[in-house]
Amino acid sequence: MPTPTDSQNHGHRQRSSVRRSGQVYLDHAATHPTLPEAVEAMVGQLQRGGNPSAINGTGRAARRVLEESRDTIAQLLNVDPVEVVFTSGGTEADNLAVKGLYGQRHAEDPRRTRVVISAIEHPAVTESAQWLAAEHGAAVEFLDVDAQGFVDPHHLRRLLEHDPDSVALVAVMWANNEVGTIEPIQDLAAICHEFGVPFHTDAVQAFGAVDVDASQPGISTVAISGHKLGAPVGSGALVVGRSVKLTSTNHGGGQQRSLRSGTLDAAGAAAFAAAARTVTRDLTVEAERLATLRDRLIRGVLQAVPQAVLRGPQDFDHVGTRLPNNAHFTFPGAEGDSLLFLLDAAGFATSTGSACSAGVPRPSTVLLALGLDEDTARGAQRFTLGHGSTDDDVDALLAALPEVYARAKSAGMAGQVSTLH
Ligand SMILES: Cc1ncc(COP(=O)(O)O)c(C=O)c1O
Repeated sequence: MPTPTDSQNHGHRQRSSVRRSGQVYLDHAATHPTLPEAVEAMVGQLQRGGNPSAINGTGRAARRVLEESRDTIAQLLNVDPVEVVFTSGGTEADNLAVKGLYGQRHAEDPRRTRVVISAIEHPAVTESAQWLAAEHGAAVEFLDVDAQGFVDPHHLRRLLEHDPDSVALVAVMWANNEVGTIEPIQDLAAICHEFGVPFHTDAVQAFGAVDVDASQPGISTVAISGHKLGAPVGSGALVVGRSVKLTSTNHGGGQQRSLRSGTLDAAGAAAFAAAARTVTRDLTVEAERLATLRDRLIRGVLQAVPQAVLRGPQDFDHVGTRLPNNAHFTFPGAEGDSLLFLLDAAGFATSTGSACSAGVPRPSTVLLALGLDEDTARGAQRFTLGHGSTDDDVDALLAALPEVYARAKSAGMAGQVSTLH
């Protein structure tokens, strides 16, 4: 954990308007700029080297770095270090949880074939579940969400009450990556606990942004990712509760409780821990600062472009229903990609929020699950803030947006913007 001196040194780190590649960076949910603390920790360990499983002095030193990093991550999530299994990122962590829980539960009792997931999960969860259906006879059931993206705990209860013995696992994300909805995780986990069904939650967007207590009753596994909070891409972890049994998805040298074989990445773990320490320091204060900035952005967009519609919950009272750094809108009559390209040309890095498959823009499945029609869903634009974001970033966006919207609208819904190549 940080010492008082650490916190004095970094607590008042100067904020700079995050202009990467000359752009105002409003795409922190895609990846957070790598923090200097993470680079320093990573380079230091890369220079020292060593295989953490080797018993020589260099290996033992690398092991120390790795275990200290594990301790840090565990402490921030309020779990035991042994429960933190390092992975290459959020996708691997989600795959290990969904496939591993299913493998274990189904092996224990072949009646357990139902995989219950929310309708707005990240593809790392949805595709893992669909793969289980295609290859292992699982039956995937979706939990509906309301117009703001909230899963209804009563719906979960109804699904579990109907033949609980046939449910292999439940997965609901902590916070949604597109519209920022923070789910009622405590309630959902408690229901799963009641029925003795394992509960996985993808906290990739939540960890580092809001308090994530992975020790809450009923939570079996939690996925987190390093690059979403300022570590380089390639580090992540799955929290696997002590009593949770999981079938491993990769086999080898038996590292990390045999749940995730493979040479341990001490440098990646050190960077992950350093970034996590930095962003969670004064988390409440920073979350409040970002939520205030987010609300200024939301109000400003709705004023600058009155046709825009906020998607996901309004959290102007800061009760914690929306990620503090997320603002997401649909812009009627404009293609999300046109907005993105025009904003990009005007110096802003933004996102439509959802990945396109094979280069073909499709309406977001998350927005469709919220009840939007396809045309409306295609006008999506997400703005996500981070630790370097400032009032100036928001002001610059608000000044540019009306013209960008007008141009995107005149380009129509074909996704073609003539001035772009
Ligand atoms: C909610 C959520 N889950 C999982 C992932 C995948 O994480 P990673 O990029 O570390 O594989 C992402 C990344 O976009 C995400 O937003």
